[in-house]
Amino acid sequence: MTIQENISLKPYNSFGIDVNAKYFISVSSIAELQHVLMNNKGSKKLIIGGGSNVLFTQNIDALVIHINTKGIKLTSRFENTVLISVAAGENWHDFVLWSLKNDLGGVENLSLIPGKVGTAPIQNIGAYGVELKDVFDSCEALELETGEIKTFSKNDCKFGYRESVFKNELKNKYIVLNVNLKLSAVNHRIKTQYGTIASDLKKNNITNPTIQDVSKAIINIRTTKLPDPKLIGNSGSFFKNPIVSKESFKLLKLNFSDIPSYEVSDKLVKIPAGWLIEKAGLKGKRFGRYGVHKKQALVLVNYGGAEGNDIKNLAYLIQDTILKIFEIYLELEVNII
Ligand code: EPU
Repeated sequence: MTIQENISLKPYNSFGIDVNAKYFISVSSIAELQHVLMNNKGSKKLIIGGGSNVLFTQNIDALVIHINTKGIKLTSRFENTVLISVAAGENWHDFVLWSLKNDLGGVENLSLIPGKVGTAPIQNIGAYGVELKDVFDSCEALELETGEIKTFSKNDCKFGYRESVFKNELKNKYIVLNVNLKLSAVNHRIKTQYGTIASDLKKNNITNPTIQDVSKAIINIRTTKLPDPKLIGNSGSFFKNPIVSKESFKLLKLNFSDIPSYEVSDKLVKIPAGWLIEKAGLKGKRFGRYGVHKKQALVLVNYGGAEGNDIKNLAYLIQDTILKIFEIYLELEVNII
């Protein structure tokens, strides 16, 4: 376990951006992590997991710590549910596959989300009608400044739409070590309401879907719409779907009668940012090495050799365009570093 110098972070970010870390170390146990922190007090640090939610725009003048801890353990068994403790460095989708193999339900709708388990609570990953918070029990996290390990309950995490305490007041203060998830062992709740899941299953003559069937359907939908980061660099949705008041939405509807929306509460609706970007004529736009994905306008892509700043500038261009046309500010989902 030695600290390396001037290491390319290209293999460590799903956008495939080639920047260097001044210092780099990959840790595969909590003890190793504690050791590195103890011996490098006071130096600037950047923690990375799967690198699926960052856009690097410069060389990193810090010690980059890559969390590569492994382990999936059943820690408690209740009447209908189980508690599973998963190490932060486990690949999220591998964990989903593990749970399906063991017939444990709750994360099947979150199939094929890139990234690692440790980053899942930071942005409360979500897809196809399920968010991490729906199965989240607690997590253990280490405070960078003191080295103390604290347990965060679901309430402590203050989850919201792609939000948590770790993205806000505790930003860069804690490293998630383990995530404890409550999964169903029997009577799985099948969720097929989102988009075309139900009709896709029906088309394949599946009338009584299992959690494994739901996962397969979602993998199908995702692979047809979303680019595989191993082939085309990307970090999933670059923007959040904006949430606006029902009054503002009514006004928007006067000018854009086909604008879609999902109810969030009796006062608020969510508008698909992908629709706004497509309507603005930017879907599929390619600027040489980078562009807006052809099949899902929320996703920005690196066709190979793009720099972080290319993609950042494209994101700003999209924000400006959407603001001009719709008077809506698109918040970034990706962390620009
Ligand atoms: N749409 C368009 N054009 C596009 C993309 C979307 O018109 O290019 C409209 C369509 O009306 C479509 C609707 O947007 O029916 C919803 O599209 P989709 O089901 O693809 O979902 P999304 O709202 O664009 C969100 C998440 C995705 C998640 C999907 C499915 C955010 C920011 N994104 O996208 O999450 O996979 O729902 O649940 O909430 C991610 O976070 O990286 C991610 C991929």
